[in-house]
Amino acid sequence: MTNLSKFYQKTWMQRLQALMDQQLISVEQRQLLEKSATDPAVGDQQIENYLTHYGLPEGLAFHYLIDQRRYLVPMVTEEPSVIAASSHGAAIVEKSGGFYTKVTDHLLWGQIVFEQVANAEKLKSLLEQQQEKLLQIANQAHPSLQQRGGGARYLRVRFLASDLVSLDLAIDTQQAMGANMVNSMLEAVADYLREQVSTPVLLSVLSNLADQALATAVCRIPVELLARPQITGQQVAQKMAAASRLAQLDPYRAATHNKGIMNGVDAVAIAMGNDWRAIESAAHAFAVKKGNYRGLSQWQLKNDESVLEGTLTLPLPVGFVGGSTKIVPLVQLNHHLAAIKSVGELEKVMVSVGLAQNLAALQALVSEGIQQGHMRLQLRATVLAAGAQPAEVATIVTKMQQLQRTDLATAQNLLAKEHEGEH
Ligand code: MEV
Repeated sequence: MTNLSKFYQKTWMQRLQALMDQQLISVEQRQLLEKSATDPAVGDQQIENYLTHYGLPEGLAFHYLIDQRRYLVPMVTEEPSVIAASSHGAAIVEKSGGFYTKVTDHLLWGQIVFEQVANAEKLKSLLEQQQEKLLQIANQAHPSLQQRGGGARYLRVRFLASDLVSLDLAIDTQQAMGANMVNSMLEAVADYLREQVSTPVLLSVLSNLADQALATAVCRIPVELLARPQITGQQVAQKMAAASRLAQLDPYRAATHNKGIMNGVDAVAIAMGNDWRAIESAAHAFAVKKGNYRGLSQWQLKNDESVLEGTLTLPLPVGFVGGSTKIVPLVQLNHHLAAIKSVGELEKVMVSVGLAQNLAALQALVSEGIQQGHMRLQLRATVLAAGAQPAEVATIVTKMQQLQRTDLATAQNLLAKEHEGEH
């Protein structure tokens, strides 16, 4: 076959061949796709049109003391310095007594939205009267969830516009993230309601604004632990509190503040086989819940300015079972490495990582700036991009630091000179 039609029906080998036949990839590129395909049989089950496995680096963050337990935290990220910053932030908190966390129940919202509503109040009371029946239908659609202690708990009705009404079901998904369970439960309820109610259903699907699955981490840091070479701990703490206030006031800053938090949270989410897009959308939607978009964490001086207290609350629609957690062997290994045994524990670790990440970012930003800490790691990435072999990287990075240069062209020049010297 010489074209790409019915690509999904081809075997993995046929797909690679088809790309070759169409001259879309070279022999070397085919070899790269083959070499990276760590488990084509599994990959073929996980996605459509499977080509290869795309690898991201995984590392370990240290110093996490959470509710008096120590954790090693596997993190998967392509961004240099995330893990170093994470361990650095966690080490400061460890010296301060560790993180204290709280998690709520693990309820997800599912929405059934009605359109062309003529009488919203009437529809509301009709739905509320049927609460028990609707919960029962939802639970019948996924009886094993109820057997595990979960299931549909309650409902609420919200008026979105004069003609739009949302029926929300709160569903306890137990140890799973539960998107598929929630969606099939909702569709069963929606089918029933289509027969019972003349108002049309527009759509039914889970909501990612998981504000009934919250995790909070708190840490209390004696200010002297925040000192940096040119600035006292007290001054760093005052500036961190000011940076926290800034992130409450300015959405431009809040977006970056929250990105730093999610640098850590996403890296753990990926290591633990979770849907990081769901977690991202939950976090950002939650950040705007009070009307304007704000920083998710807050830092305040306490005890006559001797302690800096940090708090972070995140919606964490995560799973410890289900999804890719069973299929991807590394996820099992990461559960084992972190010694995490439940979804609640995973939430505690993730929210603590978010707070540690934010602590490290703010401390650097209000003192020496983030570039200094990032520099060597960034330089390594630039030198690799210039074509250096891993063994050559350290020498070229040192030369670039001596020249105070960070650009790709300099890395390429230095590398060329290094290679000339070898001949
Ligand atoms: C970079 O990936 C994240 C930071 O910009 C976060 C922040 O500014 O708070 C360092």
